[in-house]
Amino acid sequence: MKETVLGLVGVGRIGVMHARNIVALNDSLGRDGIHVRLKLTDVAAQHAAALATDLGAEFVPTVDGLLASGIDGLVIATGTATHPELITKGVDAGLPVFCEKPVAVNVQESLPVLDYINEKGGTVQIGHQRRFDAGYLEAKRAYDAGELGWIHSLRAVTCDMTPPPVEFLATSGGLFRDCSVHDFDILRWLTGREIVEVYAKGSNNGDPAIGAVGDVDTALAVVTFDDGTVGTVSASRYNGAGHDVRLELQGSAGSVMVGMDEQMAMSSAEQLVEFPSGDPHKTFAERFDQAYRSEMAAFVEVVLGNRKNPCTPEDAVAASRVADAAQESLEAGAPVRVALPAVRS
Ligand SMILES: NC(=O)c1ccc[n+]([C@@H]2O[C@H](COP(=O)([O-])OP(=O)(O)OC[C@H]3O[C@@H](n4cnc5c(N)ncnc54)[C@H](O)[C@@H]3O)[C@@H](O)[C@H]2O)c1
Repeated sequence: MKETVLGLVGVGRIGVMHARNIVALNDSLGRDGIHVRLKLTDVAAQHAAALATDLGAEFVPTVDGLLASGIDGLVIATGTATHPELITKGVDAGLPVFCEKPVAVNVQESLPVLDYINEKGGTVQIGHQRRFDAGYLEAKRAYDAGELGWIHSLRAVTCDMTPPPVEFLATSGGLFRDCSVHDFDILRWLTGREIVEVYAKGSNNGDPAIGAVGDVDTALAVVTFDDGTVGTVSASRYNGAGHDVRLELQGSAGSVMVGMDEQMAMSSAEQLVEFPSGDPHKTFAERFDQAYRSEMAAFVEVVLGNRKNPCTPEDAVAASRVADAAQESLEAGAPVRVALPAVRS
């Protein structure tokens, strides 16, 4: 049995889920003779120590202690503002790194991190889990196979049921950078095209505290691709019907929708239509359970040297460029061109 040790920093909302998924990976990887051991740390030491005990993992009190403890890969699930420093530490330690999206709070702060990773030859997989979701993968297959013809419209939706804590929102970079960045990434990944312009609008009809920290609770961006195709990306923090994530691709020969299943958070206004009949997803963790497990399994393959990085920091920063443009457009009330890198990764 080959043992791989992952060190996880940050066990808040998403870190707890990654911790559980890493431990559960052994159910499938065990069949391939691989065993993953987990060590974890968090500044909320008591909570992290209790979680470690619960999962049969090892609690290490500090990040430096974790890095010095003989791990094979580092998983970063702390708040966005800490990503640059922790990525740098992981790369300095010569470790493959998985870091939750985004690389940094904005593109300006991401670029020195990109340069550093490239200078040191580091490997950093960014957590855009939708690239591992079965529905998005099928939509990409249909698109790549030409089954949809040429695409006339793309509509991406991401709605949470309730907002995260305002303290989180205050440092998240805003709705586009925190939430819609997943849609911007998936649109680039799926179409292989660049988004070149964004025109965004937003509203604040929920908790005034969200406006007070400079964010909007609902937003919509009209995006234009480099071949002139148009699409929309919309998001809200207040979707009472459930956690709603969808992507519609409509083409000259066919149409496909990701997220149209029995748990879709939408009901039909038509008579005698019982679809969808299931309980809607409530959280991103439920909606993307399979995708989060698959992305962590992919990271283990990256750590073992069996797989190329499936989500590079360059790709993540490209999505962040669109999110930055959307935020700028929202503030300016006018369309904004996306600052494209000279070469696509
Ligand atoms: N991929 C996704 O779908 C998805 C979903 C949610 C959040 N995220 C990303 O995950 C990251 C974390 O989000 P969250 O909602 O879990 O945040 P959170 O605030 O709930 O959790 C962050 C945790 O990190 C700990 N922490 C912060 N700084 C630390 C440090 N220097 N050393 C050790 N521990 C530290 C905090 O104590 C906390 O427990 C964010 O960057 C967010 O954008 C991604």
